Amino acid sequence: MRLKTIEQHILDQQRRFPGVSGDFSGLLYDIALAAKLVSKEVNRAGLGDLLGTMGEVNVQGEIVQKMDKYANELFIRILTAGGKVCAIATEENENITEIHEDGFIGKYAINMDPLDGSSNMDVNVSVGTIFSLHRKRSAGPRGSEEDCLQAGSKQACAGYVIYGSSTMLVYTTGLGVHGFTLDPAVGEFILSHPNMMMPSQCRMYSVNEGNAAFWDAGTRAYVESLKAVDPPTGRPYAARYIGSLVSDFHRNLLKGGIFLYPADCKDPHKPSGKLRLLFEAAPMAFIAEQAGGAATTGSERVLDIVPAKLHQRVPLIVGPKDEVSRYQAMTRARG
Ligand code: AHG
Ligand code: MN
Ligand code: MN
Repeated sequence: MRLKTIEQHILDQQRRFPGVSGDFSGLLYDIALAAKLVSKEVNRAGLGDLLGTMGEVNVQGEIVQKMDKYANELFIRILTAGGKVCAIATEENENITEIHEDGFIGKYAINMDPLDGSSNMDVNVSVGTIFSLHRKRSAGPRGSEEDCLQAGSKQACAGYVIYGSSTMLVYTTGLGVHGFTLDPAVGEFILSHPNMMMPSQCRMYSVNEGNAAFWDAGTRAYVESLKAVDPPTGRPYAARYIGSLVSDFHRNLLKGGIFLYPADCKDPHKPSGKLRLLFEAAPMAFIAEQAGGAATTGSERVLDIVPAKLHQRVPLIVGPKDEVSRYQAMTRARG
């Protein structure tokens, strides 16, 4: 395979699909640049004063990790300076960041989780960044919340970066899913996983089973069914849960597995599960579908949900299509 950097890949796509503008390529390039800088900090986080908490609480009521703040500010700074976005919504900020008139106002709105799984950083477990782009649809000259609050099916692009044993960027624009590995020696993301497809055979499941008592009966029955011996293999499904969505999703995408964060129906703090529609569920759902998989809340295709607010949470069940259908059938039957 010819060595191809993310920049060359974007330019190739631009040539093949005239609808893809230079603005879009520039924006993806800005995301890749910010990701490289975050990657550098994540890799040396154990050395500096970056680990631990800031003693603040973010809009989700969670402790803000120092690296959350760093990644959030860095992405906003680079994206604002890049001039390709009109609005930025992040998991860390209650409201959108509008791009002011003195800057260039681009035609894309971006929703992002700047650092996903950050509570795992203190123990050296992989974390990630998740992003989702929508075309500006509001009438005014500036971007607005309306540009961020669009159904997942309208995404122009979704992707994630995993800061793992190597750093990878995986993205889709609706033309398949492509993965790039960062070569730290030259600072380039190199195409390493073209046209990624999720294996249709499901071999593992990822869920925080400690919450089982809070789930509906159908979800409990489904997860129990995975522990029974599976006739084709003679083995039960393997349980694999990291507690970092990007890492759990990435493994399942490569190896074939289902991820679940169901609603906690008995926990008043998490009536809709934990994950955020705009920053986590919708982008992962777009990638999963593009890789041949599926994503549901149990009752609804994730990409069909029209968001009512920026920090909306939804249950997320994502994985190989047949497995997601089996989950839906069991939960529909038992409620
Ligand atoms: P974040 O660090 O962005 O707040 O996200 C954490 C999320 C996600 O990465 C993971 O799938 C989930 O929280 C794990 O939750 P539990 O610890 O409740 O299992
Ligand atoms: Mn997250
Ligand atoms: Mn986060």
